[in-house]
Amino acid sequence: MWALLLQVHNICKSYRKGRPILNHIHLTVGKGEIVGLVGESGSGKSTLAKVIMQLEAPEKGAVYFQQQPITKHRRAAFYDSCQIIFQNATAALNPMWTVRDLLREPLQHKQPITDTYLQTMLEKVKLPTDILHALPSELSGGEKQRVNLLRSLLVEPQLIVCDEIISSLDRLIQREIVDLLKTLNKERAMAILFISHDLKAVSYLCDRIYVMKAGTIVDESNKENNGFTFTDSYAKMLFQAMDH
Ligand SMILES: Nc1ncnc2c1ncn2[C@@H]1O[C@H](COP(=O)(O)OP(=O)(O)OP(=O)(O)O)[C@@H](O)[C@H]1O
Ligand SMILES: [Mg+2]
Repeated sequence: MWALLLQVHNICKSYRKGRPILNHIHLTVGKGEIVGLVGESGSGKSTLAKVIMQLEAPEKGAVYFQQQPITKHRRAAFYDSCQIIFQNATAALNPMWTVRDLLREPLQHKQPITDTYLQTMLEKVKLPTDILHALPSELSGGEKQRVNLLRSLLVEPQLIVCDEIISSLDRLIQREIVDLLKTLNKERAMAILFISHDLKAVSYLCDRIYVMKAGTIVDESNKENNGFTFTDSYAKMLFQAMDH
């Protein structure tokens, strides 16, 4: 039903010899699709996100974007279409820069963006427009993560990889960010790969979910009647625990 956007094909990766972290991973994200990736801590989710973003090299397998392998000379174009946001919003923001500098930086090589446009976009992610002159140290955790999100959105990507972006935020802000992602997905048909421990958020947000365990994808389920059905025992246990 979804046209193919991202394809992870048979990825294997180990940091040290003999200890596989990613074991023959296959995963796809369709155009405009929201895909969840869940699994226990240390199962390899962030490593997979890094391999997708070309921040780590796999031993085996390949990542395809729009049916093309991402080679060195296609990397810049790939980053124009695919952005990643990490959990630690503070680390991603240069403390010496104002929000205005931070937002303009990813688009430096393109045409300059006007303050009027920035203000429209700030409203979209529900940030006050006077925040442009603030430094990261003057922002709350939720505000920092919205600035990070906006930095990525300004690039107008077709896919955004979110690695635990809501984990350090309070419940209300988490819900607001998840709803914002849902809106952006609807308005721009922006695909999302959403990595999270928050199974409720994942179930609410995603069209399809992959479950990972010890470097392997053990199950996959499409949303049907607002719910997911798993067959693997670990995946079942994980999602059963969520209901209690
Ligand atoms: N740079 C690295 N060098 C060596 N080992 C690493 C490195 N990064 C991750 N690992 C190991 O790889 C495994 C998978 O880590 P990864 O961060 O991908 O897990 P994760 O599923 O994202 O976990 P979490 O849910 O806690 O974020 C872990 O055992 C971790 O210790
Ligand atoms: Mg992780």
